[in-house]
Amino acid sequence: MTIPDHIRNRAEQLREQINHHNHLYYVLDKPEITDSQFDALMQELISIEQKYPNLVTPDSPTQRVGGRPREGLSTVKHRVPMLSLGNAFQEPELKDFDSRVKASAQDEKISYVAELKIDGLAVSLLYENGLFVQGATRGDGETGEDITSNLKTIPSIPLRLKNDVTMEVRGEVYMPKSAFVQLNTYRKENDKPLFANPRNAAAGSLRQLDPAVTASRNLQIFTYGAGYSEIGSYKTHYQLLEYLADQGFRVNPHYQLCVDIGEVISYCKIWEEKRHQLEYTIDGMVIKINSLLQQSNLGSTFKSPRWAIAFKFPPEEAVTQIKDIIVRVGRTGVLTPTAILEPVLLAGTTVSRATLHNEDFIETKDIRIGDTVIVHKAGDIIPEVVQVKKDRRTGNENTFQIPDECPECGATVLRQGEEAAARCTGATCPAQVREGLIHFVSRSAMDIVGLGPAIINQLIDSDLVNDAADLYQLQKEDLLALERMGEKSAQNLLEAIDKSRSNPLYRLIFGLGIRHVGERAAKLLADEFGSIDSLILASEAELIEISEIGPAIAESVVTFFDQEQNRGLVKRLQQAGVNTESQQTEVNKGEQRLQGITFVLTGTLKGLTRQEAKEKIESLGGKVSSSVSSSTAYLVAGDKPGSKYQKANELGVTILDEDGLNKFLEV
Ligand code: IVH
Repeated sequence: MTIPDHIRNRAEQLREQINHHNHLYYVLDKPEITDSQFDALMQELISIEQKYPNLVTPDSPTQRVGGRPREGLSTVKHRVPMLSLGNAFQEPELKDFDSRVKASAQDEKISYVAELKIDGLAVSLLYENGLFVQGATRGDGETGEDITSNLKTIPSIPLRLKNDVTMEVRGEVYMPKSAFVQLNTYRKENDKPLFANPRNAAAGSLRQLDPAVTASRNLQIFTYGAGYSEIGSYKTHYQLLEYLADQGFRVNPHYQLCVDIGEVISYCKIWEEKRHQLEYTIDGMVIKINSLLQQSNLGSTFKSPRWAIAFKFPPEEAVTQIKDIIVRVGRTGVLTPTAILEPVLLAGTTVSRATLHNEDFIETKDIRIGDTVIVHKAGDIIPEVVQVKKDRRTGNENTFQIPDECPECGATVLRQGEEAAARCTGATCPAQVREGLIHFVSRSAMDIVGLGPAIINQLIDSDLVNDAADLYQLQKEDLLALERMGEKSAQNLLEAIDKSRSNPLYRLIFGLGIRHVGERAAKLLADEFGSIDSLILASEAELIEISEIGPAIAESVVTFFDQEQNRGLVKRLQQAGVNTESQQTEVNKGEQRLQGITFVLTGTLKGLTRQEAKEKIESLGGKVSSSVSSSTAYLVAGDKPGSKYQKANELGVTILDEDGLNKFLEV
């Protein structure tokens, strides 16, 4: 068959594009297009190659399963290849799959298990005689990366199984939505590039050379299969899932045995509707033949098994109009443009704003006020403009530029060097003061409970507070003069402010809002220098010598304390009785592996009191909260657990018994 030139060229172009995006996705963890855009390119290439098989080249991206290993991590050859799944996008494709299966199964009765397709990163966990010995990414399906130490920091991965078995378990590591939002908020505040969605965040956190970073990222896992295995006690996929749970693995509870494809389709529809209620993102469903014997009879192609298929949900997008673009000034003076949208229903909520990130984003996408745009939610959470519908332009659209002057204080706005961010240069910009104070009182900083943005605004507007030190001069009458402030709240607030005077030093250092200095860096600095006075005197060279403190942090610390105004602020905080010294070494370096992980304790523990458990968790950087919410990672249930147990179950929070907790504390 002769192949028209334009088809040949298109295939070539698609291969180049796919390789490029594969590289961005797998190697750099920085994808530039959405999954559905990527799927569309791949589908187009597959259909061209199906029609013109002569066009298939051995190195076509359709001929391999995944990406390439990252430099620095050693590689692992999988005993059993980690295959990929064929995709179905519509109901008829599921029916076709069923017909293919039935045709090969020669009239045998087929039942399926339908389960959620977790949007994370596939991993393989190898256990020898019950002991976790090696963990790897999928890589190209044949060879993955060795990420054993990183996986060991995920507390729900058992280090030892109930039985001394040798088997390889497969599952999906993911980042819960709440952890993703928390991580990106933190990264934004610290001028670090944002992750596009929880899956990229999970991949970036797992494919790390430093396990301490993985440990701080609140990752989770659901296991859903086995690779190499010497166990013969399960005969069906359903039994395998039960077996995995029994051995101590986390298995997603939402799976269903379906007697025919009709039941599969109904179950898929239920989750397509309900998917936004989950605490993690799913991008579809996976349908597997239940009988393992039938699975092995059907076998696999070199790429994917014939006994399973992924049903991909359509991307959730909505079309709406940009009514206006506003600019917000953040704590570090960064001006962030935000699109004000005609409200539209998207992925379960009404969306009326979408971040436009920075000037470059607006320019690259050529976004204008009045444009009709397609919006989606990055990682199911953050509304974003994906594309402008240029064919809907009327000529009345207006281009937008970041103002030259700060909309809050009028100071000059500058873009430095390569930075995408534009910043207000006004040292006393009220927006920066406000955002700085919000940060200062926040939970991870000075933790002044009851001092929310509304009160801070009032305090600034009434000129009672211009910086953090002013908070410590507030009197009861000052507070009583504020709107809706009663006697009791005023008293509570004063007590909370007073309590913060004796906070550990790192909280103050973090609270000062020095660029690039996040919580971890603040702890390292507090540990190393022991007092704010010594930190003020530190040189860049001394700072860089501390492991984990890079040149950007060092420069930023020195620049911060070089400014008279900032040294004055510290002095006034000291005069107000705020603690500026380390009482003791607070951070046991390297032992912060529970950082960012929130536990809730319920019921009676045997080996230790709840207070002791709390102290131990906190000494490893974890948090203990009194109530279960979507940000709870683990509920530790002792004897006679209360209603928290029920709530944790409803929210899908992992429940640990006392042994489970001890494993965490001992690892
Ligand atoms: S089974 C032979 N089950 O989806 C492939 N995969 O597109 C066996 N995934 O590589 C995979 N949830 O990373 C399976 N419940 C689930 C899954 C699941 C997510 C991922 C996995 C796989 C990819 C295939």
